[in-house]
Amino acid sequence: KENLRKRAIEVLDANFQEGGFTIPSKGLYPFQWKWDSGFIAIGFAHYDVEKAKTEIHSLLDAQWENGFIPHIVFHSDNDSYFPGPDFHQSERHPLSSKKYRSTGMTQPPVTGFVLQEMYRIAEDKQDMLAFVKDHIDKVYANHVYFYENRDPHNEGLVYIYHNWESGTDNSPVWDDIWSTMNPPEYTFERRDTTHVDASQRPTKREYDHYLYLIDIAKEHNYDDARIAELSPFLVQDPLFNAMLIKSNEALLELYKLIGGNGDKEKTLQQWQKMSIRNFNNKLFDSELGAYVHYDLRNGKPIRFVSSSSFSPLFANIPDQERAEILVKTMMERFGGEGKYLCASFDPTNERFNPKKYWRGPVWINMNWVLYYGLKNYRFDEIAERVRQDSIALIERDGFFEYFDCRKDTGESQRTGYGGNNFSWSAALLLDLLK
Ligand code: DGY
Repeated sequence: KENLRKRAIEVLDANFQEGGFTIPSKGLYPFQWKWDSGFIAIGFAHYDVEKAKTEIHSLLDAQWENGFIPHIVFHSDNDSYFPGPDFHQSERHPLSSKKYRSTGMTQPPVTGFVLQEMYRIAEDKQDMLAFVKDHIDKVYANHVYFYENRDPHNEGLVYIYHNWESGTDNSPVWDDIWSTMNPPEYTFERRDTTHVDASQRPTKREYDHYLYLIDIAKEHNYDDARIAELSPFLVQDPLFNAMLIKSNEALLELYKLIGGNGDKEKTLQQWQKMSIRNFNNKLFDSELGAYVHYDLRNGKPIRFVSSSSFSPLFANIPDQERAEILVKTMMERFGGEGKYLCASFDPTNERFNPKKYWRGPVWINMNWVLYYGLKNYRFDEIAERVRQDSIALIERDGFFEYFDCRKDTGESQRTGYGGNNFSWSAALLLDLLK
């Protein structure tokens, strides 16, 4: 284990850039990604607190004037990635960052609970609290952005307008939305498939949909109200909302620790109450025994079980009885003897693909979320299995981006997929090893 720890640190340090941020993976992802950045900071906190702080500081430095935090901060002109800043043109938004070019979409709101984790891990608590004090209002402003701009019906459930905002980019959950659209065939040069085998990445036709959604937002200068009106993709995602709720809870704790902020705490409590209630009422599918996505554009639930379905455990959203139903569903569909936990998509569904990005492979960040979620409800044995499985997969394949969940893959080739020397696999392993 000591050797594994050493290798994880090497991966992270090699991906740390002079500009004060960490790339997810060389070549494939050459900039700073929002949720990657958060998970990476948790890893750094275990051995180099200053780097952890630098990572979060640089992410928050790219925040827009309306509180928005973009999904990619383009710190350089690297052209090994498509679509780059010239495609996104987020500077069309009047309140976009004047300092950094970025995308005009976001990613799951991890920053609140990441600050809390950094505080939990830090040895020098006073020093970390000083850092929290300097940065917490930016994270709060990000939540204000979400509740004010991404929740048109005041449900306490925010929407995403692009699959890249979910983080689970090509999940089969989106397939039925793609079939409501008919985007043009774009001419462009894929860069991802020059780094990674095409069988492990989204298809060209899927990319046409991704680009078309950006074009709609761009045409309206990334105006949230216009996007809510016009985007064919408008989804209330259980993972995204669970992370927002978890981060609200974290902000409440952190504000208390730094001496309190009455108004902000009151608002956070109001959000929590409404968000948790409507999350349980709207996103739980009792027939499937799992939380599901809701298609806000077409007014219907998207009835599939994915690893996102279990993420509410992390944010203390279900009561104990419902948590037991969730875990039963997880073990029945995802937890069979021949499998490592936890596939990203239902292995019993015909859309499952064990090698293709978010259509089935195991992701270490989701396992990390699940591990702490299961602990919250005292499913200690299953939590321990998730922890051990995560370590075993990295031992089997290396620090890859995603992993085949099958114990016996029948493959002669390696079964870790996507980018190699992937930062959050290394960072979260450091947290899981302790
Ligand atoms: C990609 O390009 O696949 C990224 O994951 C988008 O965030």
